[in-house]
Amino acid sequence: MRVGVLTGGGDCPGLNAVMRAVVRKGVQRYGYDFVGFRDGWRGPLEGDTAQLDISAVRGMLPRGGTILGSSRTNPLKEENGVRRIKENLAKHEVDGLIVIGGEDTLGVAARLTDEYGIKCVGVPKTIDNDLSATDYTFGFNTAVTVATEAIDRLHTTAESHMRVLVVEVMGRHAGWIALHSGLAGGANCILIPEQRFDIEQVCAWITSRFQASYAPIVVVAEGAMPKGGEMVLKDGSTDSFGHVRLSGVGEWLSKEIESRTGKEARTTVLGHVQRGGTPTAFDRWLATRFGLHAIDAVRDGEWGSMVALRGTDIVRVPLAEATEKLKTVDPALYEEADVFFG
Ligand code: F6P
Repeated sequence: MRVGVLTGGGDCPGLNAVMRAVVRKGVQRYGYDFVGFRDGWRGPLEGDTAQLDISAVRGMLPRGGTILGSSRTNPLKEENGVRRIKENLAKHEVDGLIVIGGEDTLGVAARLTDEYGIKCVGVPKTIDNDLSATDYTFGFNTAVTVATEAIDRLHTTAESHMRVLVVEVMGRHAGWIALHSGLAGGANCILIPEQRFDIEQVCAWITSRFQASYAPIVVVAEGAMPKGGEMVLKDGSTDSFGHVRLSGVGEWLSKEIESRTGKEARTTVLGHVQRGGTPTAFDRWLATRFGLHAIDAVRDGEWGSMVALRGTDIVRVPLAEATEKLKTVDPALYEEADVFFG
């Protein structure tokens, strides 16, 4: 058996750990060999390969990023994309693919398997934790840990100057990072894309916080929107999956807060710091287990499946189920946090 591997979408701590587990078990237990495809779907589309064997994954468990590179290339948008992928897989004698990605990358894998007979097994990756059918994706815990450390640090500088500190975290469509890091870091206000926020309410919370002699911390997901204010936040450009790039909700909030409350405010945009560097122990554990189970799915010929975490078990779910809709924050979970607001 010859297995192709690719990593697509935004990079994420733990990608290399998945590949190390896949290759170690595949080679040592099953005698398979591997070919890496570079830069997500661009690799099989253009036949761009990389060595992927035991020596390539040595020492890779704690290494952030991906040794294969990543991109947001969508082969279904490319001319003859499916035919070119089929030709390149045949040329490299690849029997099936392990596709490590988020909703977009795995959505392509689901369609390629179901509609075109290209054999794929999926592994769920995203710092945003917004993939359905799995309790957690790897990378999320690292992003939350980075954001929580930042919030801890921002508390002390906010208190020293009695300022508002706004922390913008990632999360275009889902507020998981904001909710988890906001709770873990003791934020006084958490704003998520799933619920439009009322700027007057936010300012009322901030004022009440100052009245109690605390300097408030506001955690806002990059995709959060004020009621009636969406155009302020978009820069207009889109990626090949049609996602609009967002910018500026954190800065926008600081300005509004200053003018409405008369208090000084500063914004910290955490950005790609949340995605870079070494994975936490939890993400190494999860990525490794996903890799060990993904190669078993290949061995079992369970094409069109994705490995997923349910409780403490790793299970297989249909790729289509995991990618048909995003897993967003349940309103009840968000309301649970609002006792700390204001
Ligand atoms: O999907 C993961 C993610 O980190 C989002 O949270 C963020 O909006 C996006 O990627 C950023 O993408 P890029 O690195 O392409 O700007």
